[in-house]
Amino acid sequence: MINGHTQLFGIVGRPVTHSMSPAMHNAAFSELGINGVYVPMQPDSLEQGFYGLRSLGFSGVSVTVPFKVDIMAFLDHIDPVAQKIGAVNTLLFDRNNPDQVISKGYNTDWLGANQALAEEVTLADSTVLVIGAGGAARAVGFGLLEAGAQVIIANRTASKGQELAAQLGCPFVAATDIATIQADALINTTSVGMHPHIDGLPIAAELLDHFAVVMDIVYAPLQTRLLREAALRGCRTIDGLQMLLHQGAAQFSLWTGQSAPHATMRQALLRELQARAI
Ligand code: ATR
Repeated sequence: MINGHTQLFGIVGRPVTHSMSPAMHNAAFSELGINGVYVPMQPDSLEQGFYGLRSLGFSGVSVTVPFKVDIMAFLDHIDPVAQKIGAVNTLLFDRNNPDQVISKGYNTDWLGANQALAEEVTLADSTVLVIGAGGAARAVGFGLLEAGAQVIIANRTASKGQELAAQLGCPFVAATDIATIQADALINTTSVGMHPHIDGLPIAAELLDHFAVVMDIVYAPLQTRLLREAALRGCRTIDGLQMLLHQGAAQFSLWTGQSAPHATMRQALLRELQARAI
């Protein structure tokens, strides 16, 4: 029930109508009996949107494409790992002192990826091939290094892959040399295989048995061709909802101080996916 005490949360992005985060977070509030609401928001101007949220009493906000880098300019504090990644996906407005609201920025994308992968792999001392060199690869790569994993980057455009690998301080492997890699896990951070191009594969299927675990961050469809081909070759697989779930669970804990109801949140995400009939 929304009343005068309802805590305000939401997501800012452009576009934002497709976001599954409102379903996930509102289900979590409901499950734990928290008087909170989480809404999608598309600001005309990020700066005006940010100061509006701060002024209107919002407690926490998710930040998505295309604002994860630009939002950093407005924040009072930025978590050191988010600073290293160069992107913030979570805002917390600290209102402990009503005279001085403090805005804090975090990145839970790397936590989400680590926690999803940690369900199948011991991250410290593992070797992980990360496919892609965009924002998602950057968060995943830095996060794995934080956890003590060895990271190798592969990317369609070699120059972009080499640049990210140099920033991470890890090796880059050219597409023609991926066959030489054996690793504990492979993570696809590209959009290859995403609806409607569901036949896409980010790596040749016959190489998938070089990896014990294959994780995809694409979640529409949930069983991507990559995950199906990997399962056929005996790999353990992790679907894209797990990263979304765990990054959201980390946000939920930052905002509420409570541990997140993972099962409820995943069910809410699955219902949203089914409603889209992908
Ligand atoms: P994000 O910030 O979501 O990670 P991005 O910055 O657009 O998105 O990065 C997309 C990544 O997916 C890039 O690594 C891109 O490869 P290029 O650097 O060669 O562009 C990769 N990618 C996207 N479509 C691809 C495709 N059809 N085949 C291979 N890689 C693809």
